[in-house]
Amino acid sequence: MQKVIEIVKGYYKLQSDEKDFHRNIYIRKFPIKNEGLGLLFNRFKRKQSINMIMDPGTKLDLPRLEDTLKELIGGLKNLDIIFVSHQDPDVSSNVLPLLMRAKNSVLIGSIDSWRLIKMYGVPRGRFKAAESFISSYFEIPGTNSKIYFVPASYCHFRGAMMVYDPDTRVLFTGDFMAGLNTMNKQSVYADESAWPGIALFHQIYMPSKKALRTTIDLIRMLTPKVEIIAPQHGYVIKGELVDEFLERLYHLDVGVDIEDVNNVYTGRLVLALSEFLNKVRVYNIIVHTKLLKLMKESQTRDFTQPLVFMGDEVAKINVGYEQAVEYIVSLIRRHFKKEEEELLILLNDALVGLSLPIPQFMASILTEEMRKEVFKEVQ
Ligand SMILES: [Fe+2]
Ligand SMILES: [Fe+2]
Repeated sequence: MQKVIEIVKGYYKLQSDEKDFHRNIYIRKFPIKNEGLGLLFNRFKRKQSINMIMDPGTKLDLPRLEDTLKELIGGLKNLDIIFVSHQDPDVSSNVLPLLMRAKNSVLIGSIDSWRLIKMYGVPRGRFKAAESFISSYFEIPGTNSKIYFVPASYCHFRGAMMVYDPDTRVLFTGDFMAGLNTMNKQSVYADESAWPGIALFHQIYMPSKKALRTTIDLIRMLTPKVEIIAPQHGYVIKGELVDEFLERLYHLDVGVDIEDVNNVYTGRLVLALSEFLNKVRVYNIIVHTKLLKLMKESQTRDFTQPLVFMGDEVAKINVGYEQAVEYIVSLIRRHFKKEEEELLILLNDALVGLSLPIPQFMASILTEEMRKEVFKEVQ
């Protein structure tokens, strides 16, 4: 795992090492208030903070997590709250070991998550349902802070839950707003190049646009306004990109929506890509071999990929039409600087040839010269 990073004061992120798709574990220290520490909060007298961990990761993360907790809060024993967004193994498999060693800690999650997490053998007395807090907020004992539990229903699990911390304005979102690493650099924060990875993750994991919209509407209603989105995978999103990416997700076809879109465009895109690869082979056999290898090798990674091959032919498309085209365009632009123009013309030609629309981002890349070339080809 990489070094722990303080994203805002008292809010820390620990990131696993995977290059394509990593986990983020967050730790929040709520400062103990100075005055009013009466008998009621006697237990916190020698503590400087109440400490919460969010989505504590897997066994692979445990050694580094222990070191980090020692450094930040004086050890695992000082952990007070363990929050889980849902019950997937990448989120929850450390829950029991943490609860055993942090003897006074409490586990918080949704009732739907609990139904499955209790299978680890977690005692009922250590669990508190997020839904049980009045008005869905929890006043952190001994501090001036409170947190809000915000449902992310069906994103991607029925009982998925987020946590909003109004003091820092950080919304921990679990798998919602998570993404694959597409930025080609080490970075804590998302920039524009994070979007294809976020879109792909949501298309594969989220059930429908309706579910996304319900969650986005809830996020937009939070006050004070959310400034930082902290997901369990991928990059932390802040600044203008918070609204920008939420708005894009609001209009993205995902899950079952894609099945509908697939009926319209992606079937024809399979044919268009076969035509495109044939044209590339005629244009330059070396370029063809390299491009085909790049398109196919993405399948050997762990994560579900946009294109499914059978032999050297594209057999199926796992994402929406525009995302599939964007994926191929990004491969071309990244790996074929010299042949970029020619390849884009050939791709454009193959799409137009099957009456497929040219997505806006692709149209904006094509120069006037290239357009003429495409027109000539089609004629
Ligand atoms: Fe998940
Ligand atoms: Fe996850």
